[in-house]
Amino acid sequence: MNNICLETSASGKGDFRACAVRTSLGTLDFVYQSHTISEGIVDPGSHTPIPEGDKNDASTLKIVLADKVLPIVLELYYIAFTEVDVIARASRIVNNTGSSITLKGLASLQLDLFDSSWQVISLDGAWAREREVHVQDIKAATLSWNVRCGTSSAFHNPCIFLKRPDCSQSHGEAIGINLVYSGNHQQIIEPNEFGKVRLLTALGNDSFTWPLGPGQSFATPMAVMTYSDKGLNQASDNFARFTNRHIIRGYWRYRQRPVLLNNWEATYFDFSQDKLIKLANQAKSLGIELFVLDDGWFGRRTDDTKGLGDWTANPRKLPKGIEGLAQQIHQIGMMFGIWVEPEMVSQNSELYEKHPDWAVQLEGRDPSFGRSQLLLDLRRDEVQAYIIDSISKVLENVDYMKWDMNRLFSDYPDEGFFHSWMIGLYKVLGALRPRFPKVLMEACSSGGNRFDLGMLCFFDQVWTSDDTDALQRTRIQEGTSYGYSQVCMGSHVSACPNHQSLRSTDIETRFNVAAFGNLGYELDLGLLTPLQRSQVKAQIAYYKEHRPALQYGKLYRMDTEENRRMWVVEDPASGDLLVLDFQVHVRPNSTGDMLRLYMADENASYQLSSRPQKLDIRLFGSLINRVSPIKIEDGKALQRNIAENWGMDTETTTAIIGGDVLKHAGVKLDPQFTGTGYDSRTRVLGDCGSRLYWFRKL
Ligand code: DGJ
Repeated sequence: MNNICLETSASGKGDFRACAVRTSLGTLDFVYQSHTISEGIVDPGSHTPIPEGDKNDASTLKIVLADKVLPIVLELYYIAFTEVDVIARASRIVNNTGSSITLKGLASLQLDLFDSSWQVISLDGAWAREREVHVQDIKAATLSWNVRCGTSSAFHNPCIFLKRPDCSQSHGEAIGINLVYSGNHQQIIEPNEFGKVRLLTALGNDSFTWPLGPGQSFATPMAVMTYSDKGLNQASDNFARFTNRHIIRGYWRYRQRPVLLNNWEATYFDFSQDKLIKLANQAKSLGIELFVLDDGWFGRRTDDTKGLGDWTANPRKLPKGIEGLAQQIHQIGMMFGIWVEPEMVSQNSELYEKHPDWAVQLEGRDPSFGRSQLLLDLRRDEVQAYIIDSISKVLENVDYMKWDMNRLFSDYPDEGFFHSWMIGLYKVLGALRPRFPKVLMEACSSGGNRFDLGMLCFFDQVWTSDDTDALQRTRIQEGTSYGYSQVCMGSHVSACPNHQSLRSTDIETRFNVAAFGNLGYELDLGLLTPLQRSQVKAQIAYYKEHRPALQYGKLYRMDTEENRRMWVVEDPASGDLLVLDFQVHVRPNSTGDMLRLYMADENASYQLSSRPQKLDIRLFGSLINRVSPIKIEDGKALQRNIAENWGMDTETTTAIIGGDVLKHAGVKLDPQFTGTGYDSRTRVLGDCGSRLYWFRKL
């Protein structure tokens, strides 16, 4: 048994690898009984969200197995999503023994591969550096990713890939795996003595036991997998199309997302109605479409130690309530959105004073706090009802909601807690979503601590990370793009020095990176200089012009040297290509850069144009005096005055290029600044400098 590739496995009959089915019974031996093939999706009944699909784009194979001796049934589900090259898998176990057993683990998916010449790509990190890409070899021992904190987490995303060692972004074999689930999870990759590899993906077996009484069953969340023989980009594109077609649902499926302004990093908790209206007016004048009021508008919430749970407006901050503010924002001509964190309660809140028992804590133990708050017990009907009711009242007045979740789990009573809590959350979301079909909903969890397909079944987008530093964002967004589409990645332009890294990057670069997602701004627009205001206005106009490609285009991560990041999106309708060229550090006197785009259509021609950007003259410091007719002292008022009002134009790159040249040879870009010979065709990039290039297909 240890040398056979199996579709599922249980212990006790000679398969010594990690097994898909683990129960208190020890030995189980499942054999085939029957199978059925049905049109559309057959729901295994897990009470966790499942993808959408119908007879036109999905069909289900259900295989029924039974133990050779005991009346225990195991069902394996395979749902083929034919349009997007994705197969979903789930398992269900039924205990017909007449006595109680304990389920210790049930994998959603098992994939046994014949050889182990694969590498693993995992997306791991922490707050502010979510989903960084790690590549590891499979050698002699098991690799496993175990998440035990209650959310799918920034530690390890449930999306992982296997790839052949020679597989690149554009060539070679890759297999992608993900889980439609938002809580604890486990991925195991185990090579055996014969060089075979077993992959298991499951809800978190490390922190899971489930009683199965007589006649009871348990179904797993769905896992999904895809295969590409055209490199990692194709596998990611399959997942992106799957997310857009089968996971995101309802009104916002395939709809373009509005450009938003979020007040969080502009004001934090320090705002008044007047301040918000001023911000909204400024936003409107720049072309922003949605105004989002973040944390701090409700109950006693003047800082993050209080108020969670009391979802009514604080009259000192919002004298006319949410309704009044929403009306004013609508009058300005913008959509209005609001922040909530419904899964939580502050001890200092009316809700806690009334219902201390609703918080997750254990008698006799001091609870552990995260951000001074406690988790509500979402397993309880009355807690679910309270959230549904109080949040419904908030949602009546808004066009958008950001649903945050800012702590991890502690003080749970048993190992079944995590999953039953998650089922409670899904019940709440399942009740709220259809009541407000047109409200644009964004999930958030201290940034991207719960970026997963489970949340995306209810939310139209996810806040990718609290970290908006442009360089760090190239890593985070690139990692996220392995498993998820651009339209669901919230990406904002924020102030510099950046509030997470204290790094300063050019506002054009901040936009160029954020543009490869769902664009927003999160800074005090009143502090922008006149030049920056005109830059932001131009950025938003550019984004709107290219929004279908930037939100829904096919994304290509280019294989580049470490110092460079290059992303391309292909407009689904026109075939136009939009390219981000990002340089991490400037390397003086380096060779010219090439743009070679393997996805270019050999039979077409392209009109190339670079996005016009502005350069801050402070970049040149005292060197500017080599050309300036008047002396501009570095760091002095005159320099600041000029810089705040006027920027130098970046080089203009235009050309008409044959697709064959673009694909096989590439376009040579103008040389970068090297200290001498500066002219209007010199590219001044510097550290974290970037450009956007548009190749319009002729
Ligand atoms: C964490 C989120 O990620 C931020 O965007 C912001 O909404 C804060 N919470 C507010 O408390």
